[in-house]
Amino acid sequence: MPNTIVVGLQWGDEGKAKILDDLVQEAKQANDKKIWVVRFQGGPNAGHTNYILMPDGRLVKFVSHAAPIGVTSNSEIGIGPNVAFDPEKFIKEVEEARKLFGYNAGIHISERTGILFDYHRKLDAWQESLRTGNLKIGTTVSGIGPFYMDNANRATRITFAEYVSDNFHDTLAKVLEQKSHELVAARIPGLVTGKYLDTLIATHDPIRKELKECACELEYILREALEKGENIILEGAQGSMLDIDMGTKPTQTSSHLLATDPLAGLGLPRSAFRIYGVEKLYPTRVGEGVMPTLAEDNFGIETQKNAGEVGASTGRDRRVGYPDWVIIKYTAMLNDIDGIYLTRVDNVQDRDIKVCTAYEVNGKRTERVPSKLETATPIYSDKIYSWHLWDGPADLSKPEEVDKALHDKRADYVKEGSGSLPKSLKEYIIDHENYIKKPIIGMSIGPARGEIVKL
Ligand code: IMP
Repeated sequence: MPNTIVVGLQWGDEGKAKILDDLVQEAKQANDKKIWVVRFQGGPNAGHTNYILMPDGRLVKFVSHAAPIGVTSNSEIGIGPNVAFDPEKFIKEVEEARKLFGYNAGIHISERTGILFDYHRKLDAWQESLRTGNLKIGTTVSGIGPFYMDNANRATRITFAEYVSDNFHDTLAKVLEQKSHELVAARIPGLVTGKYLDTLIATHDPIRKELKECACELEYILREALEKGENIILEGAQGSMLDIDMGTKPTQTSSHLLATDPLAGLGLPRSAFRIYGVEKLYPTRVGEGVMPTLAEDNFGIETQKNAGEVGASTGRDRRVGYPDWVIIKYTAMLNDIDGIYLTRVDNVQDRDIKVCTAYEVNGKRTERVPSKLETATPIYSDKIYSWHLWDGPADLSKPEEVDKALHDKRADYVKEGSGSLPKSLKEYIIDHENYIKKPIIGMSIGPARGEIVKL
């Protein structure tokens, strides 16, 4: 089945971009029909990183925050109604993709999608500065919270249809007026003199002109694509434990990001999709918030450094934890997933890996995730896993620099398949499947396109 939804099973940064790109490549091989990559929630708080091997042999890093990862593979791209759409970032990324990969396919933005403006970012920074103690979120300061507040407030949400319409200047002026209390409190410069409005208009007018043609009724367009048997890939951002309802309050993001959410927003049936969860072998968290298996020992410190675990949107170090299968079992259930892609398997080779298979909560053992995750103490299984994939550099934080040395070793595993994997890794996969009750269908052993062992 070519139609897929891809979501993260942890706290984001699981490596979804690489899996999404791999699914695009699979679809290309399966048929010659159009491929759609549609972003369905979140905004520029996401940092989707892809490494693409260029025709001249260079490995190029491409990070997208606002544009779906389909821009690296010349796919049709779509922006759904629940996205916090940042036109400034989007246009820059599309431009870069045109230069790097010759991107020239269709861009389809739902008329219903809301626009994220500079004042959302400024309000985000201001709100975060007011938070103290355990109310601090550690946001990416991309404007996400204030954007979704406007969404819920309805009257101050500016949709893409309004953004590209001739009345935009008037609409924006009215919205700024409606929001003047908070904008003044946040001390946005030039607000009172009207200079701020002029600056926004000057920034957005050329972008509006360029994107006008992209406005569409995305739900009808995707339904037609589905009926024609084209390939639809829905791109999730962040991770399930950051969901506005199911994540850890208050350190979650502001959007609904579980796999069944886009189906409602885009009018698509569950039965037409496979849902894949992406799990990084070890969880990471960036910003504030609890992670029960946080590894403050060598495992955490070395993995953070050697795997280059640094936020793609903010440059902050990501905190690393031991594998937490209780979380995975939970998010696999919430997302109704059909299969799991395991990523970053190469980044932990030669380390001793323990796995959390239960929590102690209020003195009792449980395999459930409590709504107050702070109350959970991890219980690890007795088994320690450790695998050796190849001799080579331990520091994999700059993939571009080690690609030449490791390319062939990675390619061998991909060619020879799961049978060639080290014994302890095979056991890890079997124990994982027995615990989660969902199959691992692919395992990423390198950052570049194609470096995935299919199981
Ligand atoms: P916000 O989404 O910028 O409001 O940030 C809220 C929380 O979610 C913070 O802890 C962020 O670090 C985290 N977060 C948001 N987006 C991502 C992401 O794409 N990857 C990882 N963490 C994220």
